[in-house]
Amino acid sequence: MKNLEALIKRARIAYYNGKPLMSDEAYDRLEEQLGVATEVGHDLIRDKGARYPHAFPMYSLQKAYSIEDHPDYGNEPVTVTPKLDGAAVSLQYINGRLSLALTRGDGKHGLDITDNMRFLVPRILLPCTGKHIVQITGEVVAPATIKNSRNYAAGALSLHDVIEFQNRDLTFIAYGIQPYPTLDFIEDMDFLDHCGFETIIDSNYPMFPQDGEVWRVINNEAFEELGYTSHHPRGAFAKKVKQEGVVTELIDVVWQVGKSGNVSPVAILDPIDIDGARVARATLHNIGIIEELGLEIGCMVEVIRAGEIIPQVVRRVD
Ligand code: IVH
Repeated sequence: MKNLEALIKRARIAYYNGKPLMSDEAYDRLEEQLGVATEVGHDLIRDKGARYPHAFPMYSLQKAYSIEDHPDYGNEPVTVTPKLDGAAVSLQYINGRLSLALTRGDGKHGLDITDNMRFLVPRILLPCTGKHIVQITGEVVAPATIKNSRNYAAGALSLHDVIEFQNRDLTFIAYGIQPYPTLDFIEDMDFLDHCGFETIIDSNYPMFPQDGEVWRVINNEAFEELGYTSHHPRGAFAKKVKQEGVVTELIDVVWQVGKSGNVSPVAILDPIDIDGARVARATLHNIGIIEELGLEIGCMVEVIRAGEIIPQVVRRVD
């Protein structure tokens, strides 16, 4: 029995790493032998906290700030959904059962967060798509009333204490399923709705933080035909509003040493109020930005609170 368990464990890890040790049928037979064919044995095999590949890559979105920036889809119908500001997650269902949940990570590999996500999403996919592996993607969000809502949601994912995770106020909202069960994004979302998910087309979710809109070509074939760059699909984009900043004086630039030992410039500002928060410092990210924006001590700058958290100098205004 121990040997069989060890073999299954090795086979599954190899499979996740894209180098299967055996055929699917051989693997299924092994699982049957162990009597775990119906209970995905992930407690047996998963290496908690390890990185695993997404079954399908998780892309990011190109941004558009104005009508002129919009990609032109001609007469192709598009949906507009709120761009939720949380943490992106992928869920892998094997033969209709939740087998692996991952953080977005670098879009190709993410961290195993299955033990937590089991409490937030359906464990069984009904109705079944008939597909062996199904990947569902979406955003884990927390109410906008919670301070630093996005960090609260993202931080919860890797909590080791499952009880603490369950006590957090979190919601998973699905916006993707692959392979596509239907020819059309809206019908795909209806399918997920029937499976018990909250989906991005259910409501406009005013209770969750948003940072723009996502426009997507509805027809899946047209969407795929438009293709992908290495970063994003061409058939979708995030429409963002240019945030109105607050103008103040740049008093000084100091250097700050980050956690990983990296040094970055920080703007010291004549203190101002932005969205009810007192702001006296703002990040400049790197030395290149100082040159790019033409900043000098004593000049006037426009400052925004990016993602409601870290203030940022966006331009010089004098
Ligand atoms: S559609 C190609 N719809 O924003 C992947 N994504 O900045 C697009 N996001 O990686 C999926 N709200 O994590 C989609 N309504 C929405 C979204 C949404 C938030 C996330 C998603 C994506 C990121 C891009």
